[in-house]
Amino acid sequence: MSNANPHQAARSRRRAIRNLAALVAGSPFMSLVDADGEPVQAQAGGAQQGGRQGGPGGAPRGDRPEVVRPPTYRDEIMKVINLHEFEDAAKKALPIAAYDYVAAGAGDELTLRANREAFSHYWIRRKIMVDVTKVDTSFELFGKTYDTPILLGPGAGKNIVIADGEKLSAQAAFQTKAIMVGGPGPMLLEMGKAGKAPVWWGATLGEGTQAQALEFVKRSEDSGASALCLTVDYPYTSARDRPSRDGWDPEWVRTRVYGTPEFRTGFQAGMIDPYTPNLTWEWMKWVRPATKLPIVMKGILTAEDARLAVENGVSAIVVSNHGARTLDGMGGTLDALPEVVEAVNGRVPVLVDGGIRRGGDVIKALALGARAILIGRPFLWGLAAFGQDGVQRVVELLQGELRIALGLSGAGTLKAVDRSFIRPAWKAYRPGAVSGSASR
Ligand SMILES: Cc1cc2nc3c(=O)[nH]c(=O)nc-3n(C[C@H](O)[C@H](O)[C@H](O)COP(=O)(O)O)c2cc1C
Repeated sequence: MSNANPHQAARSRRRAIRNLAALVAGSPFMSLVDADGEPVQAQAGGAQQGGRQGGPGGAPRGDRPEVVRPPTYRDEIMKVINLHEFEDAAKKALPIAAYDYVAAGAGDELTLRANREAFSHYWIRRKIMVDVTKVDTSFELFGKTYDTPILLGPGAGKNIVIADGEKLSAQAAFQTKAIMVGGPGPMLLEMGKAGKAPVWWGATLGEGTQAQALEFVKRSEDSGASALCLTVDYPYTSARDRPSRDGWDPEWVRTRVYGTPEFRTGFQAGMIDPYTPNLTWEWMKWVRPATKLPIVMKGILTAEDARLAVENGVSAIVVSNHGARTLDGMGGTLDALPEVVEAVNGRVPVLVDGGIRRGGDVIKALALGARAILIGRPFLWGLAAFGQDGVQRVVELLQGELRIALGLSGAGTLKAVDRSFIRPAWKAYRPGAVSGSASR
């Protein structure tokens, strides 16, 4: 007697067909399937004719465009249905010290919570009766067009959550066409020679001397970076409670062995651990004339600093509080975004990160003036739980949610999202307060 469950068998068959269809379609990003998950017929008329009623999965589709689904992966990955749940999956896969290192924010984690909470400070203003047949997530940066506004933020820790984490992340970035910020130059150079490197930016937390800064520039240029990202919010490593409690060993990042002979506790309550305390605007004076690459400054939260950054020649700004891992007590990044956008006044693009977990979050960031967004922890969770496929699924899931949010909000395209798509949640409606089409 066979133990096979007929429903499971049918599901596996459908999945196999879907994967084959995705392969045949040749798209790394999207596959065409109908509402039952069956591959779309190539010939005209493949869709059934009929009425327009009915929910997902069953009704005749009339002349509507077909369902577009992201690629599917093995079952255990597909069971994870949103970015929050990737954290749960990673927690199960990781030693507690590694999980805590990635998850932790500084201090009481007020800022960590604020990053998420800021997304409930605004609501999307949906438009109706707009033709959103074509949903377009492409955006332009430094004269180039990219398919997705989701970037993988810079960060240590990829190699502790999984062996070869840097490489797996870079491969996932290549597959999903997400820009990757940071990464080991020699590895990316090799991938570039094979035509398989993602678009990537050299990333640094800053250098204290001109010679070191110029060395960073040369290294990045020689390895094929298409921009430089200077993170300016890390003069000191902040003591974070969770890694302090775990007796965090920083050598782990390099060696993948916990408690090496060089072991020292990386985080100690009350410590002051200098990283680049002497980083000033001098860095821009050293580096700006030395390279043609765009310089992105990450970690700006105020109008004053945004103006100074533009005056000092930056090509883009990332509004960021380092995923709440530095100074606890700062507000959420989405709340800082409008002041930075206003101060910059269109002179350079502004990007944002911190707590972005849903397609609707991306819409809110864009509506407040961001050109694109970065994610940090979510892709590390995907990496920890499922390796390269996990990172891809995280990007594709968020991208999928963004597509549906664009369709449902009436924006359709990233370019169309402006201030008229958002309102502060804390302000009651007053007659005359809403103009027709506020622009960015
Ligand atoms: C484990 C970890 C390490 C990080 N290391 C860096 C870093 O070296 N440089 C940097 O600019 N940002 C670093 N970040 C911050 C991320 O680039 C990004 O700004 C932040 O994670 C975004 O918030 P999110 O995690 O809520 O998406 C790190 C974040 C994490 C979680």
